[in-house]
Amino acid sequence: MSNERGSAIDRSRTKYGDEGFSRFLRRAFLASAGYDDVDLGRPIIGIAVTTSSYNTCHRDMPALVEAVKRGVLEAGGLPMEFPTISLGEILTSPTSMLYRNLMAMDTEEMVNALPMDGAVLLGGCDKTVPAQLMAAASSTKPVLLEVVGPMMTGSWRGQRLGACTDCRRLWGDHRGGVLDTDEIVEARGELVTTAGTCAVMGTASTMAVLTETLGMMLPGGATPPASSGARLRHGAATGRRIVELAAQQGPKPSEILTRAAFENAIKMLAAIGGSTNALVHLLAVARRAGVELTLGEFDTIAAEVPLLVDLKPSGTLYMEDLHRSGGVPAVLKQLTEHLDLTVVGASGLPLDTLVKQTEEHAAWQHAVRPIEDPLGPPGALAVLQGSLAPEGAVIKTSAASPHLMQHTGPALVLDLDQDIAAVLDDPELDVTPEHVLVLRNAGPVAAGMPEAGALPIPAKLARRGVRDMVRVSDARMSGTSYGTVVLHCAPEAAAGGPLSVVEDGDLIRLDVKQRSIDLLVAEDELARRLEDREPPALPRRGWRRLYAQTVLPASQGADLDFL
Ligand code: FES
Repeated sequence: MSNERGSAIDRSRTKYGDEGFSRFLRRAFLASAGYDDVDLGRPIIGIAVTTSSYNTCHRDMPALVEAVKRGVLEAGGLPMEFPTISLGEILTSPTSMLYRNLMAMDTEEMVNALPMDGAVLLGGCDKTVPAQLMAAASSTKPVLLEVVGPMMTGSWRGQRLGACTDCRRLWGDHRGGVLDTDEIVEARGELVTTAGTCAVMGTASTMAVLTETLGMMLPGGATPPASSGARLRHGAATGRRIVELAAQQGPKPSEILTRAAFENAIKMLAAIGGSTNALVHLLAVARRAGVELTLGEFDTIAAEVPLLVDLKPSGTLYMEDLHRSGGVPAVLKQLTEHLDLTVVGASGLPLDTLVKQTEEHAAWQHAVRPIEDPLGPPGALAVLQGSLAPEGAVIKTSAASPHLMQHTGPALVLDLDQDIAAVLDDPELDVTPEHVLVLRNAGPVAAGMPEAGALPIPAKLARRGVRDMVRVSDARMSGTSYGTVVLHCAPEAAAGGPLSVVEDGDLIRLDVKQRSIDLLVAEDELARRLEDREPPALPRRGWRRLYAQTVLPASQGADLDFL
């Protein structure tokens, strides 16, 4: 295949003040790597690789890279790997979210700076996919995303296990005295059994599903397990397709990431009972794509869409079951009446065609419920507002306790920088199941917004069998978590939100039906407290200072304001 636009090697040039010399030098150095003019005349495909010893979810990525490269070569392109930051959720301190925007910048800048006609961005673990979507939305080159795929489940004493909803459940049992230390250590060895991303509908799975729904990944790409041949075949198909997109110069991300595509993704988010993190990430991607989208619209856009996918933490099954049930195309088929079927993603086919090509097999598609017999009512995710969160907050109702959806209780206030476990484990702690646990100074400015919102149940209550309480914070929570947890309160405490002045014993009222979260303190008293409040000190230097100075509120996507 000839590249009519000329070689990417020659189109963008390193500035030496002499263009001929720049071209000469590039080809001289590339010759040292074995590339000749025939190679360099082909469409060049950059492959962003995020393999890292610190990201165990990406352990199988080298095989996926080879599959993508094979696809690129088969289609007449030249694959060129390049590394970017890799964010492993579990090993990145204090939270991978603090580095999502840094990874997005890194990826965007490398796609721009390096000579390539198109790019495949390989990710998987929680923040990698949103970072790559954000980078893609800022790119003028054709870009496709591909993920490593979910891990397989394990088994311990007859229980099927998968990270990480079961990690939290078993840890809760350990805290409650149901499992002793030997048992929890034994179970630990079976929780994360293969490479790949978390086995449930956590943030990684949610973002993979939404990427496919947005059309930034080829159909069928979100669910094949990391260890499967289907994953490698999808990688090869992605390699072949990106060469076509590069040769025809589109569709580009700006043509794919339309308002209609985002609305479809929000409906998919409701149908899968996806991670609350997706709201922050989709807002960030939409902002970069120039699509107007507000937090409140998540509720209205998905108002009619029921919960269809039976995966933990909202349901009972795992990602491998969703894959066996037909994956994202099977869910889209059920959602047909709710979707804009005119959208066209990276496959080049209208969604209408893709949906018609998908067969329905209710007899064995156990993880995907028929639209007329859903798993749960509409409103799996709800956006709240009130005197405790004037700019909004979020709750995952599908993973919450029905008896706590309307609840008023006294606050027990915690700050992120205190020893929370020590407080909550204190046998003398004055707490009842009616208390509302409040965590503050865990928002984007204060702490990069860690997944600390699903506070542990106080030990003395856990031992009595209490498994859920209302919890409120400016933090996020893992997509694998569950419970009646109000998150992303905006403005955050560090930015002067009402959360900063809640005191122990103040009454807090949650009313999910009314979509409200209120601090029942008189307005003049609240105003007085806010006036007396001391603003927190910013980090002194480096990325953390730049981040704290420029990060937008969670209700606007928590991107940096200049990106
Ligand atoms: Fe990587 Fe869950 S820790 S996806």
